[in-house]
Amino acid sequence: MIEWYDEAWEQAIKKVSQISNRIEDTFPHVSIEGQYNSERSGFWTAGFWPGLLWLIYKETQDENIKKYAVSCEMQLDKDLHNFVGIHHDVGFMWILSSVAHYKLLKDEESRKRGLIAASHLAGRFNIKGNFIRAWTDKVYADSQGWAIIDCIMNVPLLYWASEELNDPRFKHIAMAHTETVMNEFIRNDGSVHHIVCFDPESGERVGALGGQGYSEESAWARGAAWAIYGLSIGYGYTKDKRYLDKAKQVAHFFIANLPEDKLPCWDFRAPKEHRDGKDSSAAACAASGLLELCKYLDGIERDFYHEKAEEILHSLYENYGAWGDEEEALITMGTVNYTRSKYVNTPIIYGDYFFVEALAKLKGEEELFW
Ligand code: GLY
Repeated sequence: MIEWYDEAWEQAIKKVSQISNRIEDTFPHVSIEGQYNSERSGFWTAGFWPGLLWLIYKETQDENIKKYAVSCEMQLDKDLHNFVGIHHDVGFMWILSSVAHYKLLKDEESRKRGLIAASHLAGRFNIKGNFIRAWTDKVYADSQGWAIIDCIMNVPLLYWASEELNDPRFKHIAMAHTETVMNEFIRNDGSVHHIVCFDPESGERVGALGGQGYSEESAWARGAAWAIYGLSIGYGYTKDKRYLDKAKQVAHFFIANLPEDKLPCWDFRAPKEHRDGKDSSAAACAASGLLELCKYLDGIERDFYHEKAEEILHSLYENYGAWGDEEEALITMGTVNYTRSKYVNTPIIYGDYFFVEALAKLKGEEELFW
């Protein structure tokens, strides 16, 4: 029987193959008036296009697709080796470019790039506060003690490096950071802080910030999605059951706050007058995260999360998919940063990436790139 996701998968392959002829080896971030823009290579989103290309390449073995993915990866070398400007998001960037390349084709240079990126990430660990520092002074002058929930998606690079090198040092850092995430970011109700601030000298927690969410007490939707997915991946590497329980706790909060059409508001606690911004990227990432969670569950528990993931993805496909030629992106209605009025209700490359990744999982892919 042909399922809806088989049809969606075919459409996604067709569309990404088509748009790759124009986008080639550039770095799309958001689609404006139907066409993807091109970001600088050092921006945190630079891995999503090569990652999307590798997802398609895995299925099609199309040499053109591979050529663009490899070229993107090589362009990232200047950012990897420049050091200045490098930030916490090396996981998003190099897992989906170099690690993906290495996992698929065993390219030794790609393996080295992944390991260098992991070393950058490990070097950002603050041993007093047990957190990986976010951003750089240039982005936020006083951010030496800041950690953000997004980084739970970067730590898989550390687990991978530990396995590659047969050396647990990187994993220890990943687990110490995860401990901080579980204790300081996830509230009892399953909602998640975006930014938690520590004194960088003593490591004491000094407070939290709203960041890309509405406020310190609010619940940024994409932050919750990062937590569901990142903690589930962490469980896969460590088998620490607390990670799984926390992932479920956040999953319940996320699922319970979804509207009928499964398209979340950018912040689940945004006041009424600010609920016009939606975030399909949070939905796609959460769905892929729920499918990751399912890998470690069975019986009716697994069925529950699987059903929720499928409902989200089906709605994105049916209600928010852009399957004609007038739009390059696949999924509409993502929000980059509502509070700064930056790309609200816009297609975003990571929405497309996680949508296609989740479809691959629905079709039975067990091992992808994280
Ligand atoms: N990592 C930044 C974001 O989710 O927008």
